[in-house]
Amino acid sequence: MVEKEEKYIPIVRWVGSKKRILDKILKNVPEEFEDYYEPFVGGGIVFLYMPYENKVILNDSNKDLMNLYKRIKNNSKELIKKVDKYEKDYLAHKESDRKDAYLDIRDKFNKLKGKYTLDRAALYISINKTGFSGLFQINKDGILTTGYGRVKNPKFYKKDQIEKFSKKLKGVKLMNTDYRKALKNATKGDFIYLDPPYVPDDLNEYNMKYTKDCWTENDFLDLVDLVEDLDKRGCYVMLSNSDSKFIRKHFPKKNYTIVKIPIHRSLSPNMDYRGYQHELLIMNY
Ligand SMILES: C[S@@+](CC[C@H](N)C(=O)[O-])C[C@H]1O[C@@H](n2cnc3c(N)ncnc32)[C@H](O)[C@@H]1O
Repeated sequence: MVEKEEKYIPIVRWVGSKKRILDKILKNVPEEFEDYYEPFVGGGIVFLYMPYENKVILNDSNKDLMNLYKRIKNNSKELIKKVDKYEKDYLAHKESDRKDAYLDIRDKFNKLKGKYTLDRAALYISINKTGFSGLFQINKDGILTTGYGRVKNPKFYKKDQIEKFSKKLKGVKLMNTDYRKALKNATKGDFIYLDPPYVPDDLNEYNMKYTKDCWTENDFLDLVDLVEDLDKRGCYVMLSNSDSKFIRKHFPKKNYTIVKIPIHRSLSPNMDYRGYQHELLIMNY
């Protein structure tokens, strides 16, 4: 285990979190780099432990996640107050009534459709902590449909973690766009950690259609192009993905450093890993 002096816990539960392989990631970070880019930041565990010294640019296409991070950066006190109120209201219900309490929170959230307010950020954390597996399922009309999670005595937030996260976000550029746009200004010497959706195993390279994030084969091919482009720009690139035929074909050993990491299935019910024995860390350095 890499010694971590400061203890950080992500603010949200996140499917595909890199917590399990954080040590492997940190061990393979370049010794020195200029700016740090994380365009698929998710729960942010990699950012939290990344030893950066210069500018940091974080991005995710999830609007609610980035609204939350913006509020933590700029209005953490007000956010804590609101989340605290939602937590107290929720826990005041007896166990058998908590499903209804969850559905009330979800209704409030859905009524704010299109309005990315501080209240929405507080509701979003509440849903993340009480909904099914921390999933964020939005239907085509923009309505959140995640079911009740039956979490026993959930803790909606940890005050010290929000405060620490807020402090770390000062000076960090937060973006909410497609990863391709977020990387437009990356230049020589910058370090980019890419953690996109995993190439699925049950669709081979010829019939690959959609992942749960709606990535198509063309999106994965774009990602390959982008890594090649970043390499030409002189950036250090690290990519996490599945040990799939597609990834092996497009990131051959002769051009990339590849670290194979075993998947511990009992600890990882993540659907992305179905069928694989390993996941990969791929580096152009
Ligand atoms: C595997 S998760 C990242 C997990 C993160 N490294 C962690 O440890 O929590 C992939 C992330 O990519 C985001 N995403 C999906 N498509 C995207 C796109 N086109 N541009 C930017 N982010 C995207 C998802 O919202 C999700 O948070």
